Amino acid sequence: MTSENTSDVPGANESFEAPLARGAGDEPPAGAALGTGAAAALGATGSHLRRGPLRAGDRVQLTDIKGRHSTIVLEAGGQFHTHKGYLRHDDLIGQPEGITVANTGGVQYLAFRPLFNDYVLSMPRGAAIVYPKDAAQIVIQADIFPGARVVESGVGSGGLTLALLNAVGDQGYVHSIERRDDFAAIARGNVENFFGGPHPAWSLSTGDLADVLPMTEEPQTVDRVVLDMLAPWENLDVSADALRPGGVLIAYVATTTQLSRLAEAVRDTGRFAEPYAWETMQRGWHLEGLAVRPEHRMMGHTGFLLTTRRVADDTVIPERKRRPSKGAYPAATDEETWTEDDFGVRQPTDRKLRRTRRAVGQARDAN
Ligand SMILES: C[S@@+](CC[C@H](N)C(=O)[O-])C[C@H]1O[C@@H](n2cnc3c(N)ncnc32)[C@H](O)[C@@H]1O
Repeated sequence: MTSENTSDVPGANESFEAPLARGAGDEPPAGAALGTGAAAALGATGSHLRRGPLRAGDRVQLTDIKGRHSTIVLEAGGQFHTHKGYLRHDDLIGQPEGITVANTGGVQYLAFRPLFNDYVLSMPRGAAIVYPKDAAQIVIQADIFPGARVVESGVGSGGLTLALLNAVGDQGYVHSIERRDDFAAIARGNVENFFGGPHPAWSLSTGDLADVLPMTEEPQTVDRVVLDMLAPWENLDVSADALRPGGVLIAYVATTTQLSRLAEAVRDTGRFAEPYAWETMQRGWHLEGLAVRPEHRMMGHTGFLLTTRRVADDTVIPERKRRPSKGAYPAATDEETWTEDDFGVRQPTDRKLRRTRRAVGQARDAN
């Protein structure tokens, strides 16, 4: 297990050496290297990369008239080539966002800095990311507040880490724990590219959550635990140990079988309140004159979220008033014992089946 803190010296990174602007005309001189104090004066970590005139080192998203996006990193003297000519980076450097620029072939592009969504969806991935629509749910439903102490595992490509760091801010704390070194390295790259260097609120550890968490966080000091891994039920006890009473556990799982197993395991601990699960679907809309309708394609499924609260030690959780429906138990944790009853599937009566067979002209057995 290795554990390292990325908190020191925001602004020491090379990419901070380009002229930086705050949007209110308060710019340091071009090429000025930033010490910690200067970086702090620029506001929250990475905020200077998200506003002000375009600068060398900035990521810019170009949109052509067909709505196609290309992302470039501005470089003094740089060029963006396509088979229809090239665009000079210098035509963008020093300009505000939202301008139109033409390449040497007359092709026009609208230029903006990418937003969070654009960055996360196009950043390099090792593991599958939590999509921004789900990250938004996590931040709000788990109440990830400025200054919060958050533990996240696994880290994968760092997609969710970005949203968590955005939410806790520089005064908060996000400890991300990932068991694969290679994924941790990718996450670090994505986080540092997004914020323009190390984030003061971020610690990244490599190792298994069950080993790392008890060694790095004092019991009952963590406000939120966020799990995005194959088997979150294996880590409920270490999560409960770290969480303070009232703290939130939120888990993202991809399948209903994981969701079922997790919900039962949460109840079995006796250390969490009744879990709540949900999913969100986002459907884009086509906007063209009178043709205003849902888009034909949408992301049909990403994952399910389950959230629950840590109860205080020795609390006896009140029994649920609403009894589980007939057939809901035993829980579907062992595929070999699964029956339709486990899933609450109601069986049609013999009479209903006879009627249905008659209705489709199959009243007698075929053989
Ligand atoms: C789907 S990825 C996480 C994606 C990430 N949330 C994102 O938005 O980019 C799941 C990660 O969990 C890691 N993982 C699984 N079990 C783990 C455990 N017990 N401890 C630490 N990491 C674990 C895997 O190595 C993998 O990188």
